[in-house]
Amino acid sequence: MRIIKASDYNELSRKAANVIASQVTMNPDCVLGLATGSTPLGTYKELIERYEKGDLDFSRIKSVNLDEYRGLTKESDQSYYYFMHNNLFKHINIDPENTNVPDGTQPDSQKECTRYEGIIHSLGGIDLQLLGLGHNGHIGFNEPDQAFAPVTHCVDLAQSTIDANKRFFASADEVPRQAYTMGIGTIMKASRILLVVSGEDKAQILRDVLFGPITPQVPASVLQLHKDVIVVADKAAASKF
Ligand code: F6R
Repeated sequence: MRIIKASDYNELSRKAANVIASQVTMNPDCVLGLATGSTPLGTYKELIERYEKGDLDFSRIKSVNLDEYRGLTKESDQSYYYFMHNNLFKHINIDPENTNVPDGTQPDSQKECTRYEGIIHSLGGIDLQLLGLGHNGHIGFNEPDQAFAPVTHCVDLAQSTIDANKRFFASADEVPRQAYTMGIGTIMKASRILLVVSGEDKAQILRDVLFGPITPQVPASVLQLHKDVIVVADKAAASKF
């Protein structure tokens, strides 16, 4: 595991973008696993700027997103599809046909999970997976649990996650109660993982994730077992180690 400490959020975003940019440059056909949330926003901005300067080409890149709320349409401004379209895809030359986000509207959740896991498999797996970190140690929507989930599945969101995400909705009642997420097993099969963490409020959980016991109660702690993880944390998030 490589841990890169950045002085602030802007430097974190540049350093994380460096990792993704080198992946895209070295392997222009690669499969990128992408995340939503506030932490990767600066990284996506950096990538857009580098694309606009002519330094990056996404035309042959394929993408798979970590997760999506169950029940939200692509048009809903809180769906992760909408987020990805607005914050990255529409600003770069990725082919929309090559982007994948779980379909929140599929009524048969098992069918959707099997379909999504099948897409990742048919693409030959994920070359680089970008992850943010939840305050309870979640990655994707893999909440603290008794076991690590092997594959894409439908989850009931933890109250802490509903509370953390309600800022994006008109009220807490509007936050969906379920979501689709890649499993921990799906994520761990990625060839390389890039974890981005920002802010003092993540300092304790980041310390637990990197140096605490490996347990499904802290889902991201499993990353200690992955052979190629890069953590980019700003000074505040890295303040407890
Ligand atoms: C997003 C995702 C979540 C977030 C996590 C951190 O696709 O899967 O696990 O990465 O909740 O979110 P932020 O970056 O908003 O603190």
